[in-house]
Amino acid sequence: MSERNYPATRLRRLRRHGFLRELVREARLAPADLIYPVFVLDGRGRREPVVSMPGVERRSIDLLVEHARAAVDLGIPALALFPVIDPVRKSADAAEAWNPDGLVPRAVQALKSALPQLGVITDVALDPYTSHGQDGLIDADGYVQNDLTVAALVRQAVCQARAGADVVAPSDMMDGRIGAIRKALEREGLVNTAILAYSAKYASAFYGPFRDAVGSATNLGGAGKHSYQMDCGNSDEALHEVAQDLAEGADMVMIKPGLPYLDIVRRVKERFGVPTFVYQVSGEYAMLKAAAQNGWLDERAVVLETLLACRRAGADGILSYFALDAAGYLQG
Ligand code: PBG
Repeated sequence: MSERNYPATRLRRLRRHGFLRELVREARLAPADLIYPVFVLDGRGRREPVVSMPGVERRSIDLLVEHARAAVDLGIPALALFPVIDPVRKSADAAEAWNPDGLVPRAVQALKSALPQLGVITDVALDPYTSHGQDGLIDADGYVQNDLTVAALVRQAVCQARAGADVVAPSDMMDGRIGAIRKALEREGLVNTAILAYSAKYASAFYGPFRDAVGSATNLGGAGKHSYQMDCGNSDEALHEVAQDLAEGADMVMIKPGLPYLDIVRRVKERFGVPTFVYQVSGEYAMLKAAAQNGWLDERAVVLETLLACRRAGADGILSYFALDAAGYLQG
């Protein structure tokens, strides 16, 4: 638009009144756009705060079901389940990950029977289960071995799907895992289990508080995940990852983290036009929460602004630890 149109064009005209801003708003946010990530513990009547994520708690299954009911009442369609595994059940081969009586299958069954309308998304990755905290099975040098890990992930995903998970979400970044999981689900007759692929998951420092929450930080020590998660400088590579996962049978794709990677969300949505999700991760939560607790940011305003920014970038839905708060703001 050239300056010569002024004053015929005054862009401020449509900003003057709330009703006009409302009418011409391009992107919108609703509770139905939100997925709520939650942490589950063993035991009964147990709840523990996550210190690096003020306001977030790990809950035993009984308390989680009650909490999930609040999410349903607020119009949140699904939650994403992350287990806190007892250290004695962790091992080098992560076998607890496909124990049909394990924490995740039991949590899925409890949630689905109490709240059948609530979608349950399970995380396919070995890090809560490995004694070394990596997302896969390592060799003598600590390198995560791709194909052996994929075989383990297939067992884990089938176990979750059999327990009733509606969506399995591989967050491990191994090559070929989507195709292998899809094939196994078909073979098992689990043809309607959807796959939400963490297609473009970056080796980000914003996952720190999550690793505290599930207790994998200590196991991991100083080791990183750079040999499988994506390099933060790459963007074309994210398109390559998404193309690959779609070709292998992913129903939906995800970009992670959120706010620092919205350029990737935009490119993926424009290129592929498939259901695209973004994860506002633990470090993003911690950052906003800390500033809000200090009185430096208006929590409600920044939460709604960041989530709307994800929608504007092209995300169909957002995983956010603020999901309950945000749904409450939107309804209130
Ligand atoms: C691990 C996993 C991670 C998250 C979800 N699944 C952390 C990691 O890759 O180390 C991070 C979520 C968050 O930070 O909120 N498979």
